[in-house]
Amino acid sequence: MGRAVLLSFLAILAFWSVSVARAEDAYKYYTFTVTYGTMWVLGPEDQQVILINGQLLGPTIEAVTNDNIIVNVVNKLDEPFLLTWNGIKQRKNSWQDGVLGTNCPIPPNSNYTYKFQTKDQIGSYTYFPSTRMHRAAGGFGALNIYARSVIPVPYPKPAGDFTLLIGDWYHGGHQRLQKILDSGKPLPFPDGFLLHSHDGPTFTGDQGKTYMLRISNIGLFTSFNFRIQGHKLKVVEVEGSHVLQNMYDSLDVHVGQSVTVLVTLDQPVRDYYIVASTRFTDLVYANTAVVHYSNSEIPVSAPAPDGPTTEVDWSINQARSFRWNLTANAARPNPQGSFHYGKIKPSRTIVLANSAPIIKKKQRYAVNGVSYINSDTPLKLADYFNISGVFSLNSIPSAPSGSGAKLATFGSGQWTEASRKTYNLVDALTRHTTQVYPKSWTAILVSLDNQGMWNIRSAIWGRQYLGQQFYLRVYNPTPSLANEYNIPSNALVCGKAVGHRHP
Ligand SMILES: *[C@@H]1O[C@H](CO)[C@@H](O)[C@H](O)[C@H]1NC(C)=O
Ligand SMILES: *[C@@H]1O[C@H](CO)[C@@H](O)[C@H](O)[C@H]1NC(C)=O
Ligand SMILES: *[C@@H]1O[C@H](CO)[C@@H](O)[C@H](O)[C@H]1NC(C)=O
Repeated sequence: MGRAVLLSFLAILAFWSVSVARAEDAYKYYTFTVTYGTMWVLGPEDQQVILINGQLLGPTIEAVTNDNIIVNVVNKLDEPFLLTWNGIKQRKNSWQDGVLGTNCPIPPNSNYTYKFQTKDQIGSYTYFPSTRMHRAAGGFGALNIYARSVIPVPYPKPAGDFTLLIGDWYHGGHQRLQKILDSGKPLPFPDGFLLHSHDGPTFTGDQGKTYMLRISNIGLFTSFNFRIQGHKLKVVEVEGSHVLQNMYDSLDVHVGQSVTVLVTLDQPVRDYYIVASTRFTDLVYANTAVVHYSNSEIPVSAPAPDGPTTEVDWSINQARSFRWNLTANAARPNPQGSFHYGKIKPSRTIVLANSAPIIKKKQRYAVNGVSYINSDTPLKLADYFNISGVFSLNSIPSAPSGSGAKLATFGSGQWTEASRKTYNLVDALTRHTTQVYPKSWTAILVSLDNQGMWNIRSAIWGRQYLGQQFYLRVYNPTPSLANEYNIPSNALVCGKAVGHRHP
């Protein structure tokens, strides 16, 4: 089909804030019961889905900066299961990251209670299943972190807050996709495209008021463009960074990413289309929702607004326009003003290139030539219990080999040392997932100040499943509870860790 596909890498970016634990941080408790369901989602027939507490879109976790979140996940599937908290920094606490390199999967008919803190975080995030291709069948939801009352955010309090999780969708459930991938074929093109919201397909607001929309791409494969008929979108926050507040007609959101906008209902009273449509695809899927002015009696009317055409340049320019507001507060008061990241001399440069090798006649995906296979023993447990033979350090070269290597850009073409001159060294965003455009590169500065075992992965989920991921071990030769929490007393053990006892 010759479609251009973006590679999104989850990047653990710049964890520079350090602070003391505060005894008064609130606790929020949730129980998530995970079951199969049968549901009509998008024709032609009913399909198997994964539900949390009976719903395809899981409960929204509403937290405040520094809240302690306790989630008991009860697995009623017939397969092992884990949730991961996309973009939650898990400070000193990779024990709760919920990926197979850090956690044993929750066996069928048992439960695991996650305990983590939304430490120094603010903004719109998501959670989703990290095991197998479960995410293709549901099990995802939103995780919104609000500012503490003592910290003013750089916009007036909106009159309402709506959360939308948007993504491509595949017929037939996750097992069908696993069979395709396991047989050595790439993930097929999606069968459709959905907008999920607990507010239903209609958002109601009053003329003249301003509302917050939290938009995330929970799809497996495709970027989308988001727009509202007749209205501008003011971007205020991107994955925890308050940005310079520019107005946009439409926004590109890539797989795994989130963006928060303000929309003022400043148009004549009637109903308007919300549209999201796939980007960089030959076949364009679109889906709509509605903004309903509270006293409107005029239904939506065509034409729904068109998105940009498939040019990548438009998207790159938009991405470059997202810049950090250096004077705004974040989760903590103005942490940026004193933080001149552009003056830091990087201690190490690592070049990561993606590739799609055929190995033993099967399609795989790789980073620097290495295609990852999950171990039966989480790397984090092997590291903690000193179990040998599970992983080897430095198993991925820190630069791609071979001259034909493609380099991952926010500049186009091959990355070279000279590309450094083009970096934004002043007000680039801190975010958890960055896109890499076709035949291009993206540069990321990571401050490795969060000890633990961290999953770096393609957000394009079929590629992640077929090996385009790896783990980054951030350690200190002298173990200290000041740098990293101890193994949780309820940690599940599996593989070679069975029989090792908790402290
Ligand atoms: C979770 O598992 C424990 C045993 O490991 C059990 O005592 C508890 O009842 C379970 N909770 C739920 C909600 O299933
Ligand atoms: C940046 O944040 C400051 C402080 O809240 C605010 O006054 C200013 O309007 C913001 N600038 C832009 C361009 O969004
Ligand atoms: C693992 O080995 C390190 C270094 O030898 C030691 O300090 C630590 O106590 C060991 N951990 C366990 C759980 O045995």
